[in-house]
Order: sequence, then C-alpha cells, then structure tokens
Amino acid sequence: MTQIITSIDTLRDTLSQHRERGQTIGFVPTMGSLHAGHMDLVRACKDACDITVASIFVNPMQFGPNEDFDAYPRTLEADNDKLTAEGADYLFAPTVREMYPHGVNTQIDVPSLANILCGASRPGHFAGVATVVSKLFNIVQPHQAFFGRKDFQQLAVIRQMARDLLMPLSIVGVPTGRADDGLALSSRNAYLTDTERAQAPLLYQSLQSARQRILDGETDFAAIQRDATTALNAAGFRVDYFEVRCAHALSSAGLADTKLVILVAAYLGKARLIDNVELQKP
Ligand code: PAF
Repeated sequence: MTQIITSIDTLRDTLSQHRERGQTIGFVPTMGSLHAGHMDLVRACKDACDITVASIFVNPMQFGPNEDFDAYPRTLEADNDKLTAEGADYLFAPTVREMYPHGVNTQIDVPSLANILCGASRPGHFAGVATVVSKLFNIVQPHQAFFGRKDFQQLAVIRQMARDLLMPLSIVGVPTGRADDGLALSSRNAYLTDTERAQAPLLYQSLQSARQRILDGETDFAAIQRDATTALNAAGFRVDYFEVRCAHALSSAGLADTKLVILVAAYLGKARLIDNVELQKP
C-alpha cells in the first residue's frame, strides 16, 4: 500500500530514516490524474532506486490566469490505487498552504529556456514549474528524479536549473508513453471529445512525417514547419508552434546541428496538446 503523506515535516522525517539506512530515494513529481505514462516513470524509478516517492500537487504557480487550474482533473484516490498497484512507497500530496505558506516571494527563473516555445504563450509557466520542482527537491532530497520526455522543454528547464544551482541529484528523462494510435498520453487528453480524440493522433503523425523529411535530407526547416502547421490547422487544430530546434539549447536548428527535436503545441477544442520527436541527423 502506498502511504499518503501530506505534511512536509512527516515526509522529511520518514525519508531521513531511509537515508540513514543507506537506501537511495527516487522521486516522481506529478500533478496527478495518473495515466500509463506516469506509471512508466514510477517503474523507471523503482528499477533505479530503493525507495520510490511520487508527489501529486496541482501547482497554482504554473497556471496562467485564464488557464485550467480549477478544471484540472483531481483524482487522488484512483491515483493512489495506481501507485499502490505499481509498488510506489510514498505519495506526497500537500495542500497549497503547505507548499506556499507565505505565498510566492522567491521564484526560480531559467530565462534562456523559459520564454520560448510554450513559455512564449504561457508567461510565467516555467518559473512556476522550476520553483515548485526546486521546493519539492528540497523536501524530498532525492538521489534521482524522473520526468517524461513529452514535456521536453520542461525537462530542459529542470536539467538546466539543477545544473546551475548545483543540485546534488540526477534528472532522468523517460520516453513518452503513447496510445496504440500514437497519441502522447497526457492528463489533458481527458478534455477531448470523441471526435477530437479520433483526430488527435494527427499531431504525432505530423511530427513523424517532418522527421522523415529531415532524415531524407531536406534542409528547409522553415518549409517543413509551414507545411505541418498548414495541414494541422486545416484539420481543425489551432497550432501554437511547430518548430525544428537544436535538442540541446532549444535554439532554432541550423544546418550544422545534428541532434534535433521537433516540437509542437496545438489546441484541439479545449485541450492544449504538446508532443515532440527527437532525431539524430545522418
Ligand atoms: O509535469 C508535471 O506534471 C508538472 O509540471 C510538475 C513537474 C509535476 C511540476 O508541477
């Protein structure tokens, strides 16, 4: 049975006992509404560490004023059943007051990565993510922390933060979990109607065909981006961005870059979906 802990002090005391016994601690931070992609993170954590701690905290600081903080699905009991079935040891599920007892007076910004792509249309989002993740790291003090590669930019921001602030842990990126038709697993897929759900795999298909064009030797990335955007918009999406980027710095990809990532964010009905594919240029 996964033990639910809501207090920072209790979690710290509990984990320090494990640390004293020489056990390694792995951490899977989430906002809940857990799906098979999250379970991949838990399995990766269990494989690598002695003790697995998951957290569920819908972090108000990373939602904009017109975003879905209130509507975000909250399914704590079902989530804990899934964590129990997967063998996670602890679920940290704090309240907003526990995490932000004095509001937000200090925040962590990673400006080189936080204001582009998703950050351009979601101002403050990545400062919210970086701040809450650093607070969670300070509480859990894990040896390793596990994040999905679907949130590629988030993973880059967290890696950069951990590197710059000399945080003593490893950040592990876990491959994106997908439905059989290719749609990346996401808690926000719950917002899709049946018709939208049937259209949604087009997002991943558009990434794959862009990837194939590059692997086939095409170098006009602007044309690839334009074609994909036009096709997705024509199919009923509202594309925020479709970009070929250098996988390290997330800067616009140049011809000399060999490790690339193609990232997309698009609205389909009420859902803002993101996805990406990575590729090594031949
Ligand atoms: O990816 C998420 O679920 C969240 O952004 C995270 C990392 C748990 C921070 O709130």
